[in-house]
Parts: sequence; C-alpha cells; structure tokens
Amino acid sequence: MCGIIGYVGKKTASPILYDSLKKLEYRGYDSCGVATVNGDGEIELKKGVGRIESVDKKVDFKSLTGKIGIAHTRWATHGKVETRNAHPFTSCNRHYALVHNGILENYVELKKELVKKGHTFTSSTDTEVLVHLIEEKMAHDDNSNLIKIITEVSQEAKGAFTFLLLDKVRKEIYAFRKDSPLIIGLGDNEFFASSDITSFLEYTNKAIILENYQLAVLNEDCIVYDVSTGLKIKPKVSTIDWTAEQASKSGYPHFMLKEIFEEVEISKHSLEQDPVKLKAMIEVLKKSKKVFILGSGTSYRACLLASIYFAQIAGKQITPVLGSEYKTYQNLVDKDTVIFAISQSGETADVLEGIYLAKEKGARVVSLVNVMGSTIMRESDQYLTLNAGPEIAVASTKAFTSQVLILTLLAYGLADKLNEGKDNLNEIVSVLDQVMNLSETLVKLAKDVLNKDDLYLIGRGSSYPVAMEGELKIKEIAYIHADALAGGELKHHTLALIVPGVTCLALVPNDQTKDDMINNIMQIKARGGEIIGISSENLDVFDYYIPIPQVHLESILMIPVLQMISYYLSVIRGNDPDFPRNLAKSVTVL
Ligand code: G6P
Repeated sequence: MCGIIGYVGKKTASPILYDSLKKLEYRGYDSCGVATVNGDGEIELKKGVGRIESVDKKVDFKSLTGKIGIAHTRWATHGKVETRNAHPFTSCNRHYALVHNGILENYVELKKELVKKGHTFTSSTDTEVLVHLIEEKMAHDDNSNLIKIITEVSQEAKGAFTFLLLDKVRKEIYAFRKDSPLIIGLGDNEFFASSDITSFLEYTNKAIILENYQLAVLNEDCIVYDVSTGLKIKPKVSTIDWTAEQASKSGYPHFMLKEIFEEVEISKHSLEQDPVKLKAMIEVLKKSKKVFILGSGTSYRACLLASIYFAQIAGKQITPVLGSEYKTYQNLVDKDTVIFAISQSGETADVLEGIYLAKEKGARVVSLVNVMGSTIMRESDQYLTLNAGPEIAVASTKAFTSQVLILTLLAYGLADKLNEGKDNLNEIVSVLDQVMNLSETLVKLAKDVLNKDDLYLIGRGSSYPVAMEGELKIKEIAYIHADALAGGELKHHTLALIVPGVTCLALVPNDQTKDDMINNIMQIKARGGEIIGISSENLDVFDYYIPIPQVHLESILMIPVLQMISYYLSVIRGNDPDFPRNLAKSVTVL
C-alpha cells in the first residue's frame, strides 16, 4: 500500500526519488507525487493520478531541482483517487511538505479545530491534517523546536501515522514512525527514509530500522530521537543482505515469472535454517498446549497446508486462522497458547492486529517472515526467516513455496524426524527445475484449454490447500472465476455446476488420497466435465496430463505448476501479472 521515500544528500533529489518510487510501485498504488526544496529555497511539488511513468510524462518529476525531497505512492483510503488527494501536502505557509503511510483515525476532530483556526485544506485526506497540525503548533512555538512539536503531534494523533516532513527552512527531513514501517538508509554522504529497503538498495545496504515513536532528523547527518523521552538514541545499524539485482527483473518480462523460477535456488536457502533457531522453534511448538497459525491471503493457504502436515507427520493439532478472523478465537487464547504468524512482508495489518490482541492474553508469539526487521518479526518472541530474497510481484510465489517447505520441515522436527524431513524436502528441491521445464506445456494448456470464464480445482488432503492457492492465484492475476474444493465436497454442491465443457484441474498426488480422487474425477467426467490432471502418473481418467516427478509430498511440487498456469493465463488475457487491479502487496490497513 502507500509507500514513502525521502532523500537528502549531494545529488539532485528528483531522479533518485523517481527511481525509488518505481521500486515502491509493487506495493500497490493509484497516484503519486514528489516535493523538493528547490534552488530558491522554496518547496516545489508535482503529483498526479495513475502509474508513475504516465504521471511523469505529464508533470516531469525530474524537472524538480534541489538536493532534498520526499515522494509518495498513494493507495486511496480517505478521499477519492484524484490529484488533489495525492501526497505530498503542504502547510498553508508552504514551509513544510509531508507524505504519510497509515491511517490517522481522529483526523475529523483535528481538522475541525484547524479549520476554525484558519487553515485551508485542499484535499479530503486524513494525511493533510498532520502538516497543518505541525504548522499550527510551530506558529505557537516561535517556529523553534520541531522535535518537541512532533512529540506533541505523536501524543494527539491516533492511528498509524508514519510520515516524512520536509522543512524548507532548515532543509531537513523529519522521518517519524508510528505503526507503518520506516527504514533509514545510510549512504555515502546521503540519507534515505523509506517504507521499504528495496527502494534504496541500489545506493546502500546499511540501514536503521526505526521503532515506533522514533524520529530520525536527516540533513548532513542522521540523528535519531525517541520522542517518548525526547532523548537522542544510538540506533542499531543493520547490514541488509539483499542486493539491488535481486530486486530487479533480470531480463524476465515480469517479476512474478522471475520469482517463480527463483524457487529452484531459493528453496535450498529456505531449508538452510539456523539449527539453533530451528530447534528452539520446534521446542516451543512441541510444548505448547494450543497453537493458532495465523496468516492472510497466500500465507493463510500455507497455514492450511501446515495444519495438515503437522497432523499427518507430527500428530500435532494446530489451528489455521485468517488474520482478519482472529478475534473469533480470542476467548480460547491464554498464556499457554502459541500464536504462529506467517507473513511474507511481516506487515499485514490483519495478522498484526491478531498478534496484539493475543499478547493482551499473554500468548507467546512466534513467526515466519521474509522481510528482516518487519513489524511482525519484531513483535515476535522468536522467529524464522524465509531467506527468499525480496519478493516484488504482488502475487506471492517464491515466498509461499518457502513457507510451505519450512513449515513442513518444522512438522518433521516436531515428530523428531528432522533428517527424514530434510531428505524428503531436498528431494523436492532437487526436481524443481524439472517442474519449471513444464512451462511450454503449461503455456499451451493455458491458451487452448484453460482460458475460460470459470475453472474448478479439486484436491484432497495436502493437495486441497494447494488447490485453494491455485484458485486464489487464478482469480488474483488472471481475473478468472475459480473455485477450489475438496474432492469429497463435489457431491454436496458443486456437481450441480458440472456440465459438458466445464474444465477442472485435478491434483492427484501419489498418496492415500489417490483412489478417492479418481472416484471424484469419475463423477465429474460422468457429467461431461474435462479433466486436466496434475500427477506423477498419467491416469486413464485424465483428458490432459501435466506430469510432475514422483517424490514424497508430491502436493508441494504442484505449487509452481499452478503458479505458472495463473501467470500464463494472466499474460494471455492481456493483464499485467505484477500489478493486479485493486490489490496491493503489503496490506497495512484493516
Ligand atoms: C496481500 C498480497 C498477497 C499476500 C497477502 C498476505 O493480499 O497481495 O499476495 O498473500 O497480502 O501478505 P503477507 O505479506 O502477510 O504474506
């Protein structure tokens, strides 16, 4: 969702801000804007609705001069998608410009007061209130102490309000974090402040991950304050082991395709978990009385699959819960409960809300995240990381595969069969390249058979959540209505929709579900439906066959197959798979 970036240094800010904005694009947005302090010491600002490139064609962001500036990608929450609602916003006296990530909950009351005091608002956003509030308070403080004023604002404002304030007089950026992430990049005589490390990775991999209520003042130096005490602090500087190359398309037409193909390599790293941390995680899960495994979207599908493998491999019950549905279970949570949060970004608001509520009940929080320093990671008592590198495409692919591999490894760990688990999972990793070689077959099937208005996917046991993830992907990026169901449920409802010509993807792993799956396939064929089988065995009942290598846990190998199918369907239908309409990568609102 919204992305913020600020730059101060020796170079012209606008081209850097423009490039960094492009790297924030993947978070999802509908409008964008840039403000700098120009050579005359004035704030200059350009913004517009639409993709960054098309707005740039109209307004020419790079024509902005000055060596300090802030920029923003907006995903509308308060106020329509209109240029006047795009960030940055300026104070009435144009001394300040501000960009914001989050939702200011009490903006209506604050705005009323400010209007009474004579402030003129140009937008319908919650954000604009912040810049006027700071201006108002500064006027009463002889324009002297911005740190004190930001402290006061942080006490009065409610909600999530991470922001960058550009001060034209001091030529400084005030980077404040409350709830939404904010990372300071420490370059060579230059500083960055961004929602996302990848936006400045080209310039530096040294970063300070700000905590809530911390404020970084950026000029020729970077000084960090804890506004709750008003004191300067010495923040921890982290070295990020991601590279700019990892966050680029590297010759692929889309990030999504690149990330699917990366699974071959990434999966190895995902399984190379720090043995001490892995053991500690296994122990906590083993000893826990109750475990709720929490996730949203694709990560929730990983939770579902984990609950099946934990049951089958380790005989351990864990309850999968959607982040947004967590509250339903709150009265079951106590100090003997473990909340296991699964999240690529580590910032998903639905999951975070569950974590905060569970903590109130004294639950222990553990997590599996991809983004180091993310909020979920920092709210956890212990965590494991996916080691999947930056995931840019909105549709999660390599992170899902990594989540599934690590969660399955944990299931083996709980069963005291870690070595057997490693062998089985490494066997899967070793044949992933063969699955990637299916791309030609899948393109043809996508063109000739699957490009329909409705698709059905059936699975049983471990292949059922995989079918659900396939359904999600097909809807998310191909905009095709898809329906995943457990094979046994067909006869209870969806058989009513099976008529000649209906297409069904059947996931048939070589396990205990195979005979029942064949039975369900027969029910579909008896009504004229056609079957595309994904299996290690070419069964007579298939009309089309997608061959996967024979391994233990075959369902896992079906994941990249369905990811590729959804990708090719999306491209064939003329969509941009990296930017599905109305969706965002990192969903930081409830
Ligand atoms: C958004 C993304 C999905 C993702 C979900 C959960 O909806 O578009 O791809 O699965 O958030 O994200 P997380 O970062 O928590 O895994």
